[in-house]
Amino acid sequence: MDGLDTLKARYLGAIASAADEAGLEDVRVAALGKKGEISLKMRDLGQMDPAGRQAAGALLNALKDEIDAALRAKKTALGDAALDERLKSEWLDVTLPGRPRRPGTVHPVSQVMEELTAIFADMGFSVAEGPQVESDWYNFDALNIPPEHPSRQEHDTFFMHRDPGDDRPPHVLRTHTSPVQIRAMMQEGAPIRVIAPGRVYRMDMDQTHTPMFHQAEGLAIDRDISMANLKWTLEEFCRAYFEVPSVELRFRASHFPFTEPSAEVDIRYSIVGGQLRIGEGDRWMEILGSGMVHPKVLAAAGVDPDQWQGFAFGMGIDRLAMLKYGIPDLRAFFESDLRWLRHYGFSPLDVPDLAGGLSL
Ligand code: PHE
Repeated sequence: MDGLDTLKARYLGAIASAADEAGLEDVRVAALGKKGEISLKMRDLGQMDPAGRQAAGALLNALKDEIDAALRAKKTALGDAALDERLKSEWLDVTLPGRPRRPGTVHPVSQVMEELTAIFADMGFSVAEGPQVESDWYNFDALNIPPEHPSRQEHDTFFMHRDPGDDRPPHVLRTHTSPVQIRAMMQEGAPIRVIAPGRVYRMDMDQTHTPMFHQAEGLAIDRDISMANLKWTLEEFCRAYFEVPSVELRFRASHFPFTEPSAEVDIRYSIVGGQLRIGEGDRWMEILGSGMVHPKVLAAAGVDPDQWQGFAFGMGIDRLAMLKYGIPDLRAFFESDLRWLRHYGFSPLDVPDLAGGLSL
């Protein structure tokens, strides 16, 4: 058949000079596509006589195979070249110094909870927890705060919804962590030593109050625990927590329905050049409420008040964090401002412990 050599030379030339995969594809379609030049010639074989068809068919098939092979080879070559080109532009100097990625930070409240837990664990306290939506009984009655008690008003309680006609007392967002005292004693009985850090809620909002804040409850019940044990425990705690050689606490007589006697505790501090100093100076900051657990509270939790006695305290975690880390405004704690979190946050890799240091 005439012209096959010319055809072959033309297509092999076109394949060799195809600049990219799209150009190569055009060549393939022109030669081997459904209406391609070689395909059409194959179709023409049908009109030939058997002898001519056999000879021409063999030649055409050989040509088709040759062009097909050339197309494949060129396609691979073009692909490799494209990859080389890309690798050149995506080249990475692995010897450059690393760019630091900022890890997340631990919120001061979480940090202080860890610190508290480490200190009290060292004194033999374990951690207890309770729900934030609490029943009226746990939050008030069991703690010797009956329905008409004036301190129910003082707590500025958030109440949960009750359907009209449902006369049961509504659940509340717990106003303090004290209900965990009841839950822990009902679960474990006496003797018991627990702390219970967690969120609490009261309707209140200014520079030092937010509607949600954090407390840590402490409870120690045994045969002969006294107010002296309470005082030592709190002093030890403050010394360890503030990481100073000594602190001075002031116990002020106070009143809580669930403790008798009751005391509020202030810590001595001063501000020197904008810096807060704990343990010196002539200012006092209230940090917690405390007292000897009321016999009625023990009884409500199933602990025999004739056999057991002990102390409880509740401290404000946010306030402790503000004091230790010099944070002026409580509201910023809960605004999730990244700049604030980076400034006041802690490394997630430095887990507070007494041997290694609480706040390195
Ligand atoms: N529950 C009290 C409060 O929120 C604090 C407290 C706890 C007082 C335990 C005495 C004993 O103010």
